[in-house]
Amino acid sequence: MRISVSAPVLASALLLLWLQPTPAASAQSTQVAQTPPMGWNSWNYFAGKVDDAGVRAAADQIVASGMKDAGYVYVNIDDTWEGQRDASGVLHTNSKFPDMKALADYVHSKGLKLGIYSGPGPKTCAGYAASLGHEEQDAKLYAEWGIDYLKYDLCSFIPAVMEKQAPHDKAEQMRIMIAAYDKMAKALKATGRPIVFSLCQYGWDAPWEWAPALGGNLWRTTGDIDPTWDRIYVILSQQEGLEAYSGPGHWNDPDMLEVGNGKLSMAENRAHFSMWAMLAAPLLAGNDLPHMKPEIRDILTNRDVIAIDQDRLGKQGARIYSDGEVDVWVRHLEGGALAVAVLNAGDNRYSSHPFHLNLAKLGLHGPQQGKDLWSGKGLVLTEGMPIELKSHDVLFVRIPSPK
Ligand code: GAL
Repeated sequence: MRISVSAPVLASALLLLWLQPTPAASAQSTQVAQTPPMGWNSWNYFAGKVDDAGVRAAADQIVASGMKDAGYVYVNIDDTWEGQRDASGVLHTNSKFPDMKALADYVHSKGLKLGIYSGPGPKTCAGYAASLGHEEQDAKLYAEWGIDYLKYDLCSFIPAVMEKQAPHDKAEQMRIMIAAYDKMAKALKATGRPIVFSLCQYGWDAPWEWAPALGGNLWRTTGDIDPTWDRIYVILSQQEGLEAYSGPGHWNDPDMLEVGNGKLSMAENRAHFSMWAMLAAPLLAGNDLPHMKPEIRDILTNRDVIAIDQDRLGKQGARIYSDGEVDVWVRHLEGGALAVAVLNAGDNRYSSHPFHLNLAKLGLHGPQQGKDLWSGKGLVLTEGMPIELKSHDVLFVRIPSPK
């Protein structure tokens, strides 16, 4: 029998072989992100206004607000910290960050970790210096500073390298992109410091299929989030089908949290946080922590919801069915427990026209004893039970022993 292998299949097989982690590499990548990383990132609220004082204030607030005790660890500086390279190619910070090592020491003194941002191109998305041609040098610098997390954002690499080197060949452009992420992954590993590696290339070319092999701990699955319900719901819907790719050490990243940002209603903030927990998503708060309202702090520090996100099994939830504009999601948890989220993407459902839960569709039979994770009260889910749900709100229940 003759087995023929097409050129693209052969090319993918070779690529996967080439990406196989070395034993040292896999040891390194399994040290970090065994559960989805939790912390804060400067971009969603501060964008280009982030500075040393703001990062220290965020670290202080993570401790003071109880977020640290709830599991938030990483304090991540996003774009706009970068200055110029000197004659030896060493990158310096700009005037907003006078001393990155001192900042890292400060963050570490609080029992937290510091994250930073760069990209494979010549410039970051905001037009600051990025790592092209300086990957090893930058990785070493991060390790010397005491950096614990790198978000690596594609941006200018697209026109400057991918489109230039392979103008008419999209597949080749993707191979060039993957090689660039692999290069930085190797440079980080070579430092010997455990550094979470976060890929930000907007989900191009199915990173969930190749990022784990090169040691990526998380990868963005979509374009940018913004603090509107529509965008959050679109991103949520785009996670369907990616469940199998997520797990301890390697996570789908539907982007950082917008809880407390923009004009999101309390229901929307709750639903956004709940659904990111269902997705086993990294929980990187993106709000103005020193001015956070108590009700936003209460959402971000809901231990029951965080426990779903951080469940050690690391199994991402899935939408099981939709009925009109109500979606019902399930996530399997350690020890056979189950999380059920009933999300109302439509208008208010009053008692005159409630949503009726179909337990059988979830594979559940008979009354299910659970806990409502937002009221904190016990709740029994029954077949066909009527549920009143505000617009864009969620009923989030943990069932310890589903039947
Ligand atoms: C985008 C990225 C954002 C943020 C921004 C900074 O490409 O998706 O999360 O990092 O760049 O310029």
